[in-house]
Amino acid sequence: MLLTKEAFGEDFIWGVSTAAYQIEGAHNIHGKGLSIWDVFVQKRNKIFQNHNGDIACDFYNRYTEDLYLMYRLNIRNYRFSISWSRILPDGTGEINPSGIDFYNRLIDLSLELGITPWVTLYHWDLPHTLDKKGGWLNRDIKEWFGHYVAICVTHFGDRVKNWMVLNEPTVFCATGYFFGVHAPGKKGIDYFLAATHHAALAQAHGARIIKSIQNDNTVGTTFSCSYVEPFTTREKDIVAAKKADVLLNRLLIEPLLGMGYPTSEIKILKRIEKYIKQNDEKDLKFDMDFIGIQNYTREIIRHATFVPYLQAKIVSAKDRKVTTTAMNWEVYPEAMYQMLKKFSAYQNIPPLTITENGAAFPDRVENNMVDDPKRIQYLQDTLEQVLRAKQEGVNVKGYFVWTFLDNFEWAEGYQPRFGLVYVNFQNQQRIVKSSGNWYANFIK
Ligand code: GAL
Repeated sequence: MLLTKEAFGEDFIWGVSTAAYQIEGAHNIHGKGLSIWDVFVQKRNKIFQNHNGDIACDFYNRYTEDLYLMYRLNIRNYRFSISWSRILPDGTGEINPSGIDFYNRLIDLSLELGITPWVTLYHWDLPHTLDKKGGWLNRDIKEWFGHYVAICVTHFGDRVKNWMVLNEPTVFCATGYFFGVHAPGKKGIDYFLAATHHAALAQAHGARIIKSIQNDNTVGTTFSCSYVEPFTTREKDIVAAKKADVLLNRLLIEPLLGMGYPTSEIKILKRIEKYIKQNDEKDLKFDMDFIGIQNYTREIIRHATFVPYLQAKIVSAKDRKVTTTAMNWEVYPEAMYQMLKKFSAYQNIPPLTITENGAAFPDRVENNMVDDPKRIQYLQDTLEQVLRAKQEGVNVKGYFVWTFLDNFEWAEGYQPRFGLVYVNFQNQQRIVKSSGNWYANFIK
């Protein structure tokens, strides 16, 4: 298969993705309120070496040079997220004019450079004030979120035409409300189920609000997904893999498509009904214009008697002795093909766009250059799988690399580097990696 940009067709969208908390810094200036991440990073031993996103890539102050760099690398689609607490310091109530001003400048300069903005409304940085009222555990979040979305669309919707409501709801509900390893650090099955239902409600509600303000824009939302396979062909492992598939791939897309929650494989999930009110089921459904797929790897699952609720566990890539990235995720590009096939098999599924994909490797600067052949290989191999799916008829419209700049990788701090552009966090110097030049050339 000849991998060229042309093979994907003229309308195929090529871009890069980022998220506010991971790059912006400027965490407490110009009226910005605290987010749950600003608070979570202050707790000891939650983040690798107690790193935090206070400064991150200082994108808030350096967005001009970063957008020019993006332009020079031929990138014409930029997915970024809006920090809710920069717009509404308390989550609801007073608007912060400096926050509006920042995103206006970012959007305007992008457009001036011919870069189309793709805006995620929520990439995990909930205003801390709302967390104090329960955050995603409080059903009122549907209205709080709707209010914030309306403000964003009213202020930016004349120029922003592509919106994503949530980033990976399953991930922030699981890591933030079940495992407690991400903000706000809560642990428990009931927290997880409540957060999940409220996120699903907010997702459809947010999309409805965007459309009600401006009907001519493109609205989607994004889902994490991993290709799941059983460890052996033993029945028990197959059952375990099915359960993992529910949690990793099906839990949030199915209610959105009007299929309800997939509760039949995992008994405990039925408990979500506690949080469901009359009419909710129909409110969870929304016809998105596109679905964002975010895939990085596959997971191998085996039966595990002592794992509560699931009796299933991931067999780590390390134990399987396969090639991994710096996240200890298996390098398995075919996962992308499998996920595109899986999602496209749903009835009434809208077109898919890959809103994140990429890899972290331990990059090193030598002679002011960063040579990262493994990342180039990863991107090429994954794109081959995207093309394979596309040629088999999957309606996939675009591909965004995660990510533009090395950044704050949540609980892993600054250790894993995912960027096409290297960032020296001591002096904020940017160095385009070989992969950045490769991508620039590929999408030219
Ligand atoms: C995604 C997330 C991103 C980024 C990426 C790499 O789950 O949306 O913010 O962290 O993974 O780990």
